[in-house]
Amino acid sequence: MAANWKMNLSLYEAGDLLTEIKKAEIDFNRVDVLVAPPFTTLPSAHNLLSGTAIQIAGQNMHWEEAGAFTGEVSPLMLKEAGCTHVILGHSERRALFFETSTIINNKVAAAVNTGLIPILCIGESLQQREEKKTFDIVREQLQESLHSFSQGAVLPEGLILAYEPVWAIGTGKTASPQQAQEVHSFIRDWLREAFDKNTGRLTTILYGGSVRPDNIKELMAQPDIDGALIGGASLKADSFLSIVRFYEG
Ligand code: 13P
Repeated sequence: MAANWKMNLSLYEAGDLLTEIKKAEIDFNRVDVLVAPPFTTLPSAHNLLSGTAIQIAGQNMHWEEAGAFTGEVSPLMLKEAGCTHVILGHSERRALFFETSTIINNKVAAAVNTGLIPILCIGESLQQREEKKTFDIVREQLQESLHSFSQGAVLPEGLILAYEPVWAIGTGKTASPQQAQEVHSFIRDWLREAFDKNTGRLTTILYGGSVRPDNIKELMAQPDIDGALIGGASLKADSFLSIVRFYEG
């Protein structure tokens, strides 16, 4: 269960939220938990969470190691700040900051070279869904964002995919479990074809888009949904923790 805080929470609010998450009883044999705070919160989050099983992700990064890239953060900087993972290709990065799949491919490769696990986001817009282009768009995003790896037909170990239909993000409109399952299963088939059977079977595929305590169970009951990337509902301890503990009751 991965919390994407986006550009939210002050340093103090973040500290309070993480303290509550840290205190909660979570069965880490049943669930992996990760938080992706804004850059400036990363070192203090790392401090607070040290000694716990909760992992930390950056929300974005540049693909170069260093240089004249004002306003950017390098893969190594994220690692130094305590990140094990990095979210790449989020639809907000694609739409608002004009990131193309080619750029995202460079970022995925740089993350892997630095030893960060990418959480690669893909997903169609409402218009694309209405035009029945969902599978074409998802296939194209996968092909282009993983171009470096499909050449050699080896997907980096542990790489995580997140299917986030753009029309379901922050809108309160969750994809139905069936709609999500259908695309997740398509993604597994694509992985099988582009890489191999085991890659298709073993790759973690998260669903993101208006995940809440009241819909997580049904989503998690789908055979090809392994977890969730949570935005709004991850900003409060009670809603995030009840999603994290979906396995109870
Ligand atoms: P919401 O859960 O707020 O819809 O956001 C989803 C998301 O974009 C996670 O990356």
